[in-house]
This record gives sequence, structure tokens and C-alpha cells, in this order.
Amino acid sequence: MAAFKVNGKNVCPEKNQKLLRFLRDELRLTSVKDGCSEGACGACTVIIDGKTCKACVPDTDSLSGREIITVEGLTEWERQVYTYAYGKAGAVQCGFCIPGMVMCTKALLDENMEPTDDEIRYALRNNYCRCTGYVKIMDAVRLAAKILKKGEIPDDGDPNWTIGNRVARIDVAEKVLGTGKYPDDFYLDGMLYGSALRSRYARARVLSIDTSKAKELPGVEAVVTAADIPGENKIGHLKHDQYTLIPVGGLVHYLGDAVALVAAKDRETVEKAKKLIKVDYEVLPHVHTIEEAAALDAPKVFDEEESNVCAHKHISRGNAEEAIRNSKYVISHHFETPWTEHA
Ligand code: FES
Ligand code: FES
Repeated sequence: MAAFKVNGKNVCPEKNQKLLRFLRDELRLTSVKDGCSEGACGACTVIIDGKTCKACVPDTDSLSGREIITVEGLTEWERQVYTYAYGKAGAVQCGFCIPGMVMCTKALLDENMEPTDDEIRYALRNNYCRCTGYVKIMDAVRLAAKILKKGEIPDDGDPNWTIGNRVARIDVAEKVLGTGKYPDDFYLDGMLYGSALRSRYARARVLSIDTSKAKELPGVEAVVTAADIPGENKIGHLKHDQYTLIPVGGLVHYLGDAVALVAAKDRETVEKAKKLIKVDYEVLPHVHTIEEAAALDAPKVFDEEESNVCAHKHISRGNAEEAIRNSKYVISHHFETPWTEHA
């Protein structure tokens, strides 16, 4: 087994595993977020020997002698600087991506205190932010660089909560420093792990689901399908037309549709059990766009519905015809609004 350092402490994982799993599940360093588990999002970024690395990629056995830093390993000064800079720049919304962004910021500024915009973009190139966007995150990096160079954090006094003033969000520190708890950050004694088996096709009919082998696997506590859901198996915001779990005979509508849920004593068992669930599909022509769905001969996206039109609403107020007749100018055009519009 490989021995290495995490935030200055010697560690030696008992089994080979992804670094992300070791940091989160064994060391409980939950600033290291699991956004995708497969090297795509950057939420799990840590620094290994001075360079950023996505912790979900390397196996612990490959890290012998390396030095790893997570947000928990920042110095007090760095914590203050990054919290101030990200808060001041308004760079934090949900905060899930931020510890990874902070690690990229640190790796960049440790080497280069005066990065150009291109260098900042390059440093953040592997990290996705779904809600803040990148402009303010770049502002935060520039501001952190300035403060680190000057060696002093500006004293802004007490926040001014009156209209027209900017204040840092109140939970900025926990989001920058990764101490805030998201559901995935809770670890309870004896807890079970759960995961959904998702559709392999974007449009297909489920012909059969066989969970018997998965249920027999030691460590599996439950395998649930639509047949186990009492009452209505449909949810939806505008219309109850989405299956909670796709039943036998039902259509899957996208690659993420859940067909079964597994609960087991650990993650490995969950993943093994998912592989043992046998689902037969009849793959059907996919419908990719609204235009394709609106075509006269389009396959029905929801086969319980009469057509692919979700809803039709006609709104008129006052005497529109008369108003148009008496108008000096009439402009006809096709306008589009989001479903929810407040005008
Ligand atoms: S969790 Fe590692 S890159 Fe997304
Ligand atoms: S702040 Fe939400 S993903 Fe970046």
C-alpha cells in the first residue's frame, strides 16, 4: 500500500481506491466535492506536489511519496484571503464548485502572482461552475492575487445592508473553505449507500426488469422498482407526467431516467448490484428537439398523451381585434417566451 502526505500528515490507505474516495470517506475531507466521479467537472480538484489534479482520477496506490493539499490544508492567511476575495467578487453561489476553484487559484498564484487573464482562464479550464459563471470567479482570482502581493486584506468595515450596496453572502466562508454541508457530506454510523440504475437509452420501452440476482448479493438491503411504489408513480412540475422509476411497459425519456434503486452497505456493493439488474429494452427512435417532436409524424414522446404538445394556452385581454383594427401600425411576428413568464 502506498504512503503519502495529506495536508502535511502521513497517511497510508488500507486498500487501493480513488483518491477522492479516500479523502472524503476515510479522512472526511469533504471540501473535496464529488461532482461527477469521472474526471469531468473539477469539483474534486486538489493540489499534488504543486500541481492541480482531479482527486477522482488517481488511485491511491499510485501516489507513493506525493504531497496532497486540500482546502482544509490552507494556511490561516490563505483562508482569509480566498474567503475575502471570493466573497467580495460575488463569486460564490451554491458553492459546490468553489473549493475546487480555490485549489486552482492557489496552484496558479503560488507560482505566478501576476497572472494574465489568459493564464487565469487556463488555470480554471478544467473546472465547471453551474451557477456563478466564470467572470466573477476570475475577478476573485485577480483580487486574491492583489491581496497576496500586498500582504493585506482591505478593511471594508461592517457590511452595509442598505439598497445599492454590495455585501458578501453570509455563508461565503463555509462555501469557500468547504466546511458547509451538502447532502453528500453527511456520514452516519451504519448508514446505507444508495444509487439509481439509469437508462442506457434516450428513448426505449422497458420490457422487463429482473432484480433477483442483485437482491441475492450479500450486503444488499433493498432493490426497488416502480412495482414497489405505492400510489402514483408520476411526478412533475407542470404536469405529473414523469415516472419516478420507469415501470415495465413504460418509456424512458432520456439517458438519466431511473429504472431501479439499490441500497447496500457500501458503494462497491451498490455498483456490483446495479450490474446484476437485468433490464430488457426495446430501443425506439429518439426525438431530439422540439421541432422533431412537433413534426406531424413524430413518435409520441409520452405514449399516454394524445400528442407531443404539453399544453396549449390562449390568452387574450380586452378586445384585441378592435385594438388591432384601430391601430396605425400592426406588426406581426412570432414571439417566444419561457413557459413561466410574468409579463
Ligand atoms: S468529481 Fe472529479 S472531476 Fe468531477
Ligand atoms: S457556485 Fe454553484 S457551481 Fe459554482
